[in-house]
Amino acid sequence: MIPKETIQNIIDTARIDEVVGDFVQLKRRGANMLGLCPFHNEKTPSFTVSPAKGIYKCFGCGKAGNAVNFIMDHEKYSYPEALRFLADKYNIEIEEQEPTPEEIAQDTEREGLFALNTFAQKYFSRILHESEEGKAVGLTYFKERGFREDIIRKFQLGFSASAWDAFTREALNSGYSEKYLITSGLTIKKDDRLYDRFRERVIFPIHNLTGKVIGFGGRTLSSDKNKPKYVNSPESEVYNKSKSLYGIWLARNAMVAKDNCLLVEGYTDVISLYQSGIENVVSSSGTSLTTDQIRLIHKFTRNITILYDGDPAGIKASFRGIDMILEQGLNVKVVLFPDGDDPDAFARKHRSVEVETFISENANDFIAFKTRLLLNETQGDPIKKAALIHEIIQTISLIPDPIIRPLYIRECAEIMDMDEQTLMHELNKQRRKKIVKGDKQDEELPEPEMVAPPASELPDISDASAQEKDIIRLLLLYGTENLSFKVRIEGGNPFKEEFEEVLVPVAQYICNDLRTNQITFDSEVYQFIFDAFAEGADSNALPEEKFFLMHADKRIADTAIDLITPRYELSPGWEEIRIYVPTETDDLENTIVRSLLSLIHRKLSILIYKNQQTMKVLDNTSEVWSDLLSRDIYYKRARNEINRRLGRILNG
Ligand code: UTP
Ligand code: MN
Repeated sequence: MIPKETIQNIIDTARIDEVVGDFVQLKRRGANMLGLCPFHNEKTPSFTVSPAKGIYKCFGCGKAGNAVNFIMDHEKYSYPEALRFLADKYNIEIEEQEPTPEEIAQDTEREGLFALNTFAQKYFSRILHESEEGKAVGLTYFKERGFREDIIRKFQLGFSASAWDAFTREALNSGYSEKYLITSGLTIKKDDRLYDRFRERVIFPIHNLTGKVIGFGGRTLSSDKNKPKYVNSPESEVYNKSKSLYGIWLARNAMVAKDNCLLVEGYTDVISLYQSGIENVVSSSGTSLTTDQIRLIHKFTRNITILYDGDPAGIKASFRGIDMILEQGLNVKVVLFPDGDDPDAFARKHRSVEVETFISENANDFIAFKTRLLLNETQGDPIKKAALIHEIIQTISLIPDPIIRPLYIRECAEIMDMDEQTLMHELNKQRRKKIVKGDKQDEELPEPEMVAPPASELPDISDASAQEKDIIRLLLLYGTENLSFKVRIEGGNPFKEEFEEVLVPVAQYICNDLRTNQITFDSEVYQFIFDAFAEGADSNALPEEKFFLMHADKRIADTAIDLITPRYELSPGWEEIRIYVPTETDDLENTIVRSLLSLIHRKLSILIYKNQQTMKVLDNTSEVWSDLLSRDIYYKRARNEINRRLGRILNG
């Protein structure tokens, strides 16, 4: 648990432009800063950062928040994780509040495992570079594979000696506990004896996004068919295979820079490509990609290029995984290496530029690639072709973007020499099926045939959200400003009227008015903001803008950000135009009164409407009915009064 004061300290210290600036290149634009949004794909920048307010907002995709939200969203951290990240960035010490026993256990376990893994990685590297066995066997092997010294160091490769328990003994001697040795999987206990999991293998440490060692893969150098080629760390508190990607910590920056992620099969493919200067490469370690891994990639880019070694069985086996990638809205390309080479072999045979050129020139769009590959197999057999069409359309139907789907239909129609309409028909059929199955919240439910009634016949009488929003906006923007009123001085000179100026904060004015009229907000968030101002007005300590903008409840922060960032202030371009628009601040009192009246008017209309609905179903001789009728009259009279006042304001 992080103490409240520390949280406050972190929030106060973190500068939004610095925090965002670590991930997004920002250019100054007037009072704000502008960059390409990291949350969606864009060519012209609409991601705006306001250092003054400590917030960001993207006018393209709508993502908005404060520094903590940014880190949560960008790094996929939880709230406390994001706070810790910022604390670390700004060297703010977190003196933990007493955590729960489970938290202690979990934290110590994680820390214990990280510490042990780091120790193990250093140990294996030392054996590789310094021991006779390591140099003769391990280092020689890596050198023969063409790995350069700097690359061996960069990937922190290592070697485990052939002795049964060399590592385990060393770790125990250095004070690491048997418990962590076993949960990390580095040590195996059998018949009360401890021995090393990795023996006589070259070691590939596996890192998380931030470069901490979470596990290991060890490759045997023997040709003994009975020995598994690779031995890997088991899952633990720090290693979740389906959530990690080999090489991600070294690839992340290049993935952003190239806006693409190359996906390969194995450890050695990653290392060889990296050595040829192609750094945006990761591996899912021999298994098909999981949704968690796709999400991890999506944090950095929306484009994935899968590099294959040209074995058709392997390619076909990967199709289902690729469907999953498409379903997540990412774009997939595939590259097939010639002569059955895997990326590692190809990279060893060619110069860096050749590798890079080959990949970019041979990247096929996945759907076209799949269509061609399957079409090749149908050999003109109509039944097989029908199945192929079904399968391809199935894949296309997964793509969430309704603009892209028809483009694929056209391309596939061309490849298969088929009528586009037929394919489109099949696509619609499959999407309808999916919608009925309800496994998709769809942007595109087939429009029911109906003519919408004219807007005037359908007043959305039950909704006061626009009016509520306007009041909350005024509170947030001007709550602490003062309105000035002239008040007659009582008991002064009886022959001459004398006035004095009284200042009333906007918040007090609004809150008193609405409380007197017993108005409450339908929206929980608005009610929260209102209450905060009302309490503040009562105690003479109005909440600052920051209180809402930095609020831990994202709904509150989002609402505040949305309401205090008017488009004309932030959106680029407007600043250059600088037309004078008479603003609401020119006559703040008038603006406020009008908004208050509008809200009360709407609330009254809702009451009247509901009242009348109830009256309709009641017997008009009942006592309740006449009670409702008198209410109806009372509400309408009040509404007329408001109409009159509103009219006066609007007309002059
Ligand atoms: P590969 O057999 O292609 O291995 O398996 P590789 O990394 O290219 O190794 P070299 O080039 O033959 O030396 C691809 C990946 O599948 C996982 C590993 O992550 C490997 O990198 N794998 C493979 C295992 O986990 N266990 C195995 O027994 C085999
Ligand atoms: Mn290989």
